Amino acid sequence: MKTILTTLPEEAAQIIKNGGTVAFPTETVYGLGANVFDAKAIAKIFQAKQRPNDNPLIAHVGSLEQIKLLAAEITPIAQKFIEAFFPAPLTLVLPKAKKVPLTATANLPTIGVRMPENDLALKFLKSCGMPVVAPSANLSGKPSPTTWQAVFEDLSGRIDCILQGEPTEIGLESTVLDCTSEIPLVLRSGAITLEQLQKVEPKTRLYKLSEMETPKSPGLKHRHYSPRAEVILISNFKFQIPDSSAFIGLNEPREKFDLIKVCKSIEDYAHSVFAFFRECDRENIKTIYCETVEEKGIGLALMDRLKRASQTS
Ligand code: TXA
Ligand code: MG
Repeated sequence: MKTILTTLPEEAAQIIKNGGTVAFPTETVYGLGANVFDAKAIAKIFQAKQRPNDNPLIAHVGSLEQIKLLAAEITPIAQKFIEAFFPAPLTLVLPKAKKVPLTATANLPTIGVRMPENDLALKFLKSCGMPVVAPSANLSGKPSPTTWQAVFEDLSGRIDCILQGEPTEIGLESTVLDCTSEIPLVLRSGAITLEQLQKVEPKTRLYKLSEMETPKSPGLKHRHYSPRAEVILISNFKFQIPDSSAFIGLNEPREKFDLIKVCKSIEDYAHSVFAFFRECDRENIKTIYCETVEEKGIGLALMDRLKRASQTS
């Protein structure tokens, strides 16, 4: 299959309307979209990404009205978060509407809904005229794409179109918040921080994987965000750096590395980390040392991704 590259949101939207798959930019990472009501188009997403089919997709809307097409009920608590944040790097899990095919939600009775805060994404979604389900536009298990070139690297020839936008602003995926019960639960941390959510609803807390046998968010159990290189988390160096090593962190290291990225802030670290992982793989780096950060604000999401990337199984 030939992958069309375009900068025109209307052209990309036409491909969605025709049952195709389109990668598009958001403020977090690039997504790989299909019409939420087209089970066949959704199947193409799972195939292109080689995604396990027990991992549910997030539905993206171009307007608040479209949420009603996806959710059987907008819970009062969800309504508060929508008013406080949308459009935002925040996904709300709600009871799903009957019309939404179970392939989109991996057989769950709930659906993740998000309105991205990115002009090109919103133009594209409005042009589509329907909500668009989209996981991150990478091969399953790889670092999420923060540029259209990273999408091309993983999925060229496997998807119908790439809508070419700017590199993404945030660089980590959205916060996923379960709003189906009294206590809102953060299933995946992201740019909208726990502290921000608690200002709107003080009961909000982090969901712990150990709380239940089967994880509430199936995506959490799969290996994620991994470059080919081994990822090691460090807080200081008291050892010999092996050959073909790279470093990313906030403080300039004294040791010699083949590739070094010193970030200006935690936000800059979050923004840069996935692209850096991909660069390391292209340069045949064997080991990537990632400096740990305080698990506060977006540092919580960054440490979550770093820990997962460093897991070996
Ligand atoms: O920032 C983002 O969220 C990006 C952009 C493209 O919007 N999308 C993204 O999608 O990261 P994906 O598929 O890579 O991650 C979706 C996460 C998974 O951890 C999945 O388990 C969880 O959201 N999720 C989706 N629907 C859910 C549901 N109904 N219940 C619980 N978790 C859900
Ligand atoms: Mg993903």
